[in-house]
Amino acid sequence: MIPFRPPSDLRIRPARPDDAEALGTLWARAFPGERSAADRTESLLAGTDTYGGLDTCRVAELDGRMAGACRAYSLTLSLFGRPVPALGLGAVAVSPDARRRGIGAELCRDALRVGRERGDLVSVLYPFRVEFYRRMGWALAGAVERYRFPPEALPRFPERARARLLEPAERRPGVPELYRSLLPRRHGLLHRSERHWEQLDDPAVLVVGVGADSGGGALAAAAILESRRGRGGAGHALTVRELYASDPSSYRALLGWLSVQRDQWRSITLDALPGERLHQVLAEPRRPSRGARRGLWFESAVLLRGPMMRVIDLAGLAAHFGVRPGTRLEVADPEVPEQSGVWVADDEAGLQRTGEEPGNGALPIALLSGLVVSGELPGIRIPPPEFEPAMGLGDFDLLDTF
Ligand SMILES: CC(C)(COP(=O)(O)OP(=O)(O)OC[C@H]1O[C@@H](n2cnc3c(N)ncnc32)[C@H](O)[C@@H]1OP(=O)(O)O)[C@@H](O)C(=O)NCCC(=O)NCCS
Repeated sequence: MIPFRPPSDLRIRPARPDDAEALGTLWARAFPGERSAADRTESLLAGTDTYGGLDTCRVAELDGRMAGACRAYSLTLSLFGRPVPALGLGAVAVSPDARRRGIGAELCRDALRVGRERGDLVSVLYPFRVEFYRRMGWALAGAVERYRFPPEALPRFPERARARLLEPAERRPGVPELYRSLLPRRHGLLHRSERHWEQLDDPAVLVVGVGADSGGGALAAAAILESRRGRGGAGHALTVRELYASDPSSYRALLGWLSVQRDQWRSITLDALPGERLHQVLAEPRRPSRGARRGLWFESAVLLRGPMMRVIDLAGLAAHFGVRPGTRLEVADPEVPEQSGVWVADDEAGLQRTGEEPGNGALPIALLSGLVVSGELPGIRIPPPEFEPAMGLGDFDLLDTF
């Protein structure tokens, strides 16, 4: 629990059009090296940001001046294949002169209220510091293994004959349709709007598609790739931005396509889900030019721990997925007191609070959230019985960063 209270005259409110300039400046200062202040202001006013416009911005005011801001995006998350309304918390920023007074934490509390009021069941974010958010109830939810390897380290799977480069005009609607078809079979992916797919119109981006057996324009796998000039004569490098496949054979088709690119690209960077077990197919899953740290063991991928997730409406989540009668949960959630207490499910009426105070043994909300994301919370039917993950991948894969 955070022991400090924010300044008593702090006010948090929705953003207005006349905040756009100050918001652009605040965020450009808080996230240097990313987009400029003018660019941020312009896209706020034009409403062209991928995850929503000014209506997603919350402003913290102190003495009539902007002291901080954040974005409370309204998202739909595929939680073990089921669509769930979710609060995406992003761009939490406090002006340099107002830091360490509890304003950042208060912006997060305010976003939790906004999310609950509009019916969000969970929240997702990318942390600047895990402990800050864990203390407020979020739990680490996902991870990727970042591999860098020469193309020939991948097997030349014969299925590669099914993969081919898609011209910009051929990419839609095939790639978005493939992504949509995977939503019921994946955990963590966001439901995307058309705006998310504008990346496909960029001719500098390479898109490889694998046709589905059913023919037509349908795809069974796709990868979005970016080519980079290597440093110091290292040759060109390829980064795999996104890769999704509906079945193992189509997945192998993409890997096989990548494997024959050795004469143009000297290295490939690929973020794989731990469940993909990429190390099983790479000829040398060893990081380039690293010695052994422990006997004959070797360094391999870098583990990138990614988004965090938090339950913000436990009763709503139980109603959405179903709960086993006889379930009893004792929960401690100081940030969302409506969730703190003893919860029981006697019958079909779902999870109800008894009015008892949570005891010392109550489950902290961050731990409960971690159990939900791994499908291990007793009582609630998560994962749902119908969930059949594509390629057996149950890993939480948010993919989008915001
Ligand atoms: C990250 C950021 C938003 C934090 O904002 P902030 O208002 O300073 O955050 P808070 O004051 O709520 O909390 C920060 C710390 O100050 C402490 N604190 C809060 N009020 C305090 C007080 N009155 N006295 C002493 N310490 C206090 C908090 O307990 C917390 O401590 P911790 O180090 O144990 O976590 C701010 O530093 C920032 O804008 N950074 C750049 C942008 C960025 O990285 N954003 C995150 C995107 S996910």
